[in-house]
Amino acid sequence: MTSATYSLVNNETGEKTELPLITGTIGTPGADVGKVYDKLGIFTYDPGFTSTCSTKSSITYIDGDEGILLYRGYPVDQLAAHSSFIEVCYLVLHGELPKKAELEAFEGSIRRHTMINEGVKRFFDGFYHDAHPMAMLTGVTGALSAFYHDTTNNKDARHREIFAHRMIAKIPTIAAAAYKKYSGQPFMHPQNKLDYCSNLLHMMFAVPAEPYQVDPIAAKALDVLFILHADHEQNASTSTVRMAGSTGCNPYAAISSGIAALWGPLHGGANEAVLTMLDEIGDVKHVPDFMDKVKNKVEGVRLMGFGHRVYKNFDPRAKIIREQCHKVLKHLGKENDPKMELALKLEEIALNDDYFKERKLYPNVDFYSGIIYEALGIPVNMFTPMFAVARTVGWCAHWSEMTADKTTRIARPRQVYTGAATRDYVACDKR
Ligand code: CMC
Repeated sequence: MTSATYSLVNNETGEKTELPLITGTIGTPGADVGKVYDKLGIFTYDPGFTSTCSTKSSITYIDGDEGILLYRGYPVDQLAAHSSFIEVCYLVLHGELPKKAELEAFEGSIRRHTMINEGVKRFFDGFYHDAHPMAMLTGVTGALSAFYHDTTNNKDARHREIFAHRMIAKIPTIAAAAYKKYSGQPFMHPQNKLDYCSNLLHMMFAVPAEPYQVDPIAAKALDVLFILHADHEQNASTSTVRMAGSTGCNPYAAISSGIAALWGPLHGGANEAVLTMLDEIGDVKHVPDFMDKVKNKVEGVRLMGFGHRVYKNFDPRAKIIREQCHKVLKHLGKENDPKMELALKLEEIALNDDYFKERKLYPNVDFYSGIIYEALGIPVNMFTPMFAVARTVGWCAHWSEMTADKTTRIARPRQVYTGAATRDYVACDKR
């Protein structure tokens, strides 16, 4: 494969353009079509980017057919079993697992950056009382660009590092504040003695009136979920961060654009959509009717939490989350949770149904994560913010990789124009 050559030929003139092969360490190579327009005067057309690599990257590798996901070469199941989210953050950002002292220094820095400027907090006063937490997360993260001007020389590696530490440290504080705003409770300050996920749970569920003890099993379950969500190569939100970042904009603004992209139900919003779907189905006895609607594509009804652009065998994250789901429900005495029963029934039917088999649709990461979140007492509209908190490290790593790369150019796709051909302006009274 790596030695094959590819070319595009103009069938009329016979003019040929070689497409140099770009190969990585593992996985599918890419044919470089960058010169096609100059040489042949045509664009390549690939809406939805099903065959298009937008970049080279050394952060995350996915083999969709084999169900493999690697962060910096390490299989995600090994990381989920043996590592911690904070260690994975270091790995994703720096490319190597940290030595003990490196991990301590990194974790110490993240813990010390958890507070948000008092001025940032006042943004929440302006939001409507029932604003969706993702709306607040998008807005407030964008607003950070107005507060941390001191370290936004994107060409300076130390500035990039400080930005990443601030972003990773502050995003749980912002997400928890969005929840508190929504629920009408006072904001809780971060507790830097707590680990990353315990701190998030504390900021969400503690109230000043009484002591709050974080459930270590809940914190551990969240930590594993966060490891699984930390990065996923060039998904829609990461590509959005890269695209915005390619203009040289403020990095907090770039992350805000990624959060906005994540919100959609086809992407990170799917975890919320799964629970909404389960609520709508209501009972196992309604599953066959619902499945008929999905297969007949009634008003675009989809089995949310199923299918993936890249995974055409299984989503390795879903496998791990499924196990976690059982563990958490057992720990909380919710083994017979009706939502889980319903989800398992949907899964069973879909996995044995030709519609799903032919289209290679399998449960994805979002199918089970919502059930765990719900069991942990996290409200449905906070599911996607949880995903955003976990994915922030991936966004920061991709933004840094792209910004440090001297060959990066502004991302500026082209189009095939289908509008009116040139025509002359007609005065209003003559139309
Ligand atoms: N339920 C029913 N049919 C589906 C589903 C689904 N969940 N997903 C895809 N299909 C069908 C689709 O209708 C199409 O059928 P046909 O060939 O007859 O036209 C075929 O499968 C291919 O679908 P597609 O929309 O062309 O595939 P895509 O790669 O563009 O979309 C996807 C991928 C994830 C957006 C899609 O599978 C989907 O909408 N899934 C539900 C939403 C979801 O769970 N999203 C979370 C993805 S994982 C986490 C993340 O990325 O954040």
